[in-house]
Amino acid sequence: MKIAVLSRDERHLIELSRQLRARPGSDEVDMIAGTAARLSTMADEAVPDLLVVDAPRADEGELDQLERLGHLFPRMAFIVLSEDLSQDFLLRAMRAGVREVLAARPAPADLVAAVDHVAEKLGSQGAAQGRVLAFISCKGGSGSTFLATNLAYALSAGGAKRVALIDMNLQFGDASLFVSDSKPLATLSDVATQIHRLDPSFLSSSMVSVTPNFSVLAAPSDPAHASDVKPEHIDAIIKLARRQYDFIVLDVGRSLDPVSVRALDHADTIYPVLQTTLPYIRDGKRLLGVFRNLEYGNDKVELIVNRHDNNSDIRLKDLEEAFDTTQLRTMPNHYDAAARSVNQGVPITRLAPDSQLSHALMAMARGLTGEAAPVQGAGLMARLFKRRKTDV
Ligand SMILES: Nc1ncnc2c1ncn2[C@@H]1O[C@H](COP(=O)(O)OP(=O)(O)OP(=O)(O)O)[C@@H](O)[C@H]1O
Ligand SMILES: [Mg+2]
Repeated sequence: MKIAVLSRDERHLIELSRQLRARPGSDEVDMIAGTAARLSTMADEAVPDLLVVDAPRADEGELDQLERLGHLFPRMAFIVLSEDLSQDFLLRAMRAGVREVLAARPAPADLVAAVDHVAEKLGSQGAAQGRVLAFISCKGGSGSTFLATNLAYALSAGGAKRVALIDMNLQFGDASLFVSDSKPLATLSDVATQIHRLDPSFLSSSMVSVTPNFSVLAAPSDPAHASDVKPEHIDAIIKLARRQYDFIVLDVGRSLDPVSVRALDHADTIYPVLQTTLPYIRDGKRLLGVFRNLEYGNDKVELIVNRHDNNSDIRLKDLEEAFDTTQLRTMPNHYDAAARSVNQGVPITRLAPDSQLSHALMAMARGLTGEAAPVQGAGLMARLFKRRKTDV
């Protein structure tokens, strides 16, 4: 494991590093003299798995700096050593993403035990690689942007998963507006044209931050910039994003071209979105034919029937026959709630949590994250408390 120790006290820095190097295994331990502010421009390769922070001063904004670092490098774990072990400090540290807080001068065995605990947690997460989920319309207006953005939000809503959405509709993409009213300061084409600057901090600062653990990389604002984005840029961005986020949701739109195909190549799962009318079904079959030619296996492609209504002329059974599958996922039709959500730029699961459509999105998100359904009737405090206990 790669460990960095940060302290203003050089003697303590050396002592802590010595204790950590004595831990059995092949850790690489770096010493950094100074405060967390020094780390915000760290290159991707330099980001440690674990940062041990000696005596951060809350009154000098160092916990806020740690929180910012946590956003920049979401996969990095923190251990903080502090004289202040008050409830207030602990809560603030946990909010900043700190996993363990130890006394200022911990016994070497306690420090090593805390590092073992972090190593075990990181190990059980496997190689730190996020999952790429791509949404593509079988035909315009199927709801793929709506589902991609709202699923991405639902994946992040438990607070434990870091989620990025990348809008790949290079002409007229509007995904960021489905979940946020902030104007994007940068877009996918800005990242592409400055690809030599690509690192965690450049990627994260180019995105609209919807919530602390959900960000959106918007589509180019001017269709003329669509051609700035090349397949090799997609390779670099997705490779980096996989290390930074648990889920990378791609709104691929409906055009098949070298850039979108490259994005689909990277996807772990592709969700073609269709509705229950013949034009969608025809185009859906064509799209699946293209996927077969691209040698995407059946386990990579999962059709979603959006705006599903049990009273439709075409029954689910007919669709299953048409697509030769028994595994069609459906999303119910709820026009009012969807329209309000899109018009206000507020995710539907937040705006109308009781809608059947919100339930279906949350169930899909839970299937992907493995998180349990919230306890019915539990109050906000109880839920917060439950989350904190399991998070830390
Ligand atoms: N399950 C649903 N129930 C009711 N309305 C929905 C549902 N899903 C999406 N919609 C509505 O359909 C509209 C079109 O959706 P969206 O823009 O996501 O389609 P799209 O496939 O991304 O279209 P395009 O091909 O233009 O990118 C949305 O404005 C939303 O209000
Ligand atoms: Mg769209």
